[in-house]
Amino acid sequence: MNEKVILKKTEDFILKQFESDSSGHDFWHLQRVVNTAKSIQENEGGDLFLIELSAWLHDLGDYKLNDGKDVSVHKINEFLLSLGVGDATIKLVIQIVSEVSYKGGFNQSPTSLEAKIVQDADRLDAIGAIGIARTFAYGGKKGRVLYNPNIDPVAHTSFDSYQHSVQPTINHFYEKLLKLKDLMQTKTGRQLANKRHEFMEQYLTQFYSELS
Ligand code: NI
Repeated sequence: MNEKVILKKTEDFILKQFESDSSGHDFWHLQRVVNTAKSIQENEGGDLFLIELSAWLHDLGDYKLNDGKDVSVHKINEFLLSLGVGDATIKLVIQIVSEVSYKGGFNQSPTSLEAKIVQDADRLDAIGAIGIARTFAYGGKKGRVLYNPNIDPVAHTSFDSYQHSVQPTINHFYEKLLKLKDLMQTKTGRQLANKRHEFMEQYLTQFYSELS
């Protein structure tokens, strides 16, 4: 199977896996990440096939979506083997995907250019106008209120405390979203992130102005 066919089959497979997800990890998230990663690659270089393949697969088996268990290695391996993809390529994809995930790890930097690009693309989809929409969609699924005037969103900023309690969704901006622009790995990613970050700042200003 040539690379073009493998990518098409991967896209079809991902569409089937994710079409019913309403938590913000839907098929269109994957497609946006693929497109953003490809446009970052145009400036930054890197292996386009590995980048596109990993971008499609980066949320498959993610721990947030499978009752807390990360089954991505197993699922990716099984799927790519079924397409006859070689072991060396599968290993690289699994390495990239494992480095893309956030999981509270501010300190781990991806080790390859391909992983840096896919991670930037994934994080870019978490900020800006789309990031805001995804954040409130996910919060709704988790039963979070938008905002509670009795809970200071800035004071509750730890990743762990947000994940393990039912805090208002607005807190998520402070424990994660506003930090992402400084965690970009590529210059192109940083430029895109700055624009989206600015929009979130404006959004929050407007949000608070409507409370009184
Ligand atoms: Ni993702």
